[in-house]
Amino acid sequence: MIDLSTGYLGFQLPSPLVASAGPLSRSVDNVQRMADAGIGAVVLHSLFEEQIEVEAADLDRILASGVEMQEAQSYFPDMTSYNIGPEGYLEHIEALKRAVRLPVIASLNGVSLGGWVRYAKLMEQAGADALELNLYEVAGDPEQSGAAIEDRYCSIVSEVRSQLRIPLAVKIGPYFTSIPNIARRLAQAGADAVVIFNRFYQPDFELESLSLVPSLQLSTSQELLPRLHWTALLHGRISADIAITGGVHTAEDIVKCMLAGARVAMTTSALLHHGIGYARSLLVDLNQWLVEHEYESIRQMQGAMSAGKVSDPGAFERANYMKVLGSYTLSDAAK
Ligand SMILES: Cc1cc2nc3c(=O)[nH]c(=O)nc-3n(C[C@H](O)[C@H](O)[C@H](O)COP(=O)(O)O)c2cc1C
Repeated sequence: MIDLSTGYLGFQLPSPLVASAGPLSRSVDNVQRMADAGIGAVVLHSLFEEQIEVEAADLDRILASGVEMQEAQSYFPDMTSYNIGPEGYLEHIEALKRAVRLPVIASLNGVSLGGWVRYAKLMEQAGADALELNLYEVAGDPEQSGAAIEDRYCSIVSEVRSQLRIPLAVKIGPYFTSIPNIARRLAQAGADAVVIFNRFYQPDFELESLSLVPSLQLSTSQELLPRLHWTALLHGRISADIAITGGVHTAEDIVKCMLAGARVAMTTSALLHHGIGYARSLLVDLNQWLVEHEYESIRQMQGAMSAGKVSDPGAFERANYMKVLGSYTLSDAAK
């Protein structure tokens, strides 16, 4: 009997496969199907700082004009193209908690220090088992130094941590000069897990109209490599759990995440592409892989290929650079 269980954010999960934040979690029925398929926990689609701030500003303005609270709610602008807005979000958490038993991780998405972080507490009160804070920022201002941005991230994490009793995960992008340093600082500021990495979406250029076109492509397994690399380098060097999001499509991908040192492997693209039922076949294949390779449990393999454990840790660092470049064989056309 293979033991697929893992520990993440203090929960004992039946499997290391977690549904990352995405549109599927907007439906209670979908989350129920994820649980039935063996998914260990679900991260909800995000509630965004912008939605909370717009709603708060509008509420102040409307109430100042003498309108009653109930009537005021019908004045809110439509920010619901992606989700159901702040109040609806809290109600969704409550509905999910009534319907499913797997841990429900709410997601709060923002990057400035401000009143929106109070929603962390409201999410906890609505019944969220944990919170994932997504620091998705496009740092395009030349006046802002990397150090100042990182200090702000740590302040946001401390502020959110101070409002919560439930566990806190922090989802970050890959664009830091020192990922181990920021990961360690976020853990010191109160993150119980770091989730690596956000995918950043860049608009494409439409050449005839000279306009920018939003572009969201689902990932492939190729995107897993930087996540494995940094997980392997972080494992055992920060106090927080590590979760991988990005490029998890096959049972082998999940195995690689575990060997690098992640506690959970998250997926969205694979479920969007194949449907929620695909989670079950991933877990059947994962079980089979462990049997064939004579592992008894997931825990046994976690971190076994981290930088501290492999025989050639230089492969993760600059030492490997020249070797990789030299390994490329020119094709006949290029000669
Ligand atoms: C359609 C779509 C919606 C998403 N919505 C969110 C979101 O609300 N909050 C968030 O933190 N990540 C969101 N993500 C990112 C995913 O959680 C995940 O980190 C990313 O897609 C990489 O994982 P994957 O390769 O398994 O897709 C979304 C992704 C997709 C494709």
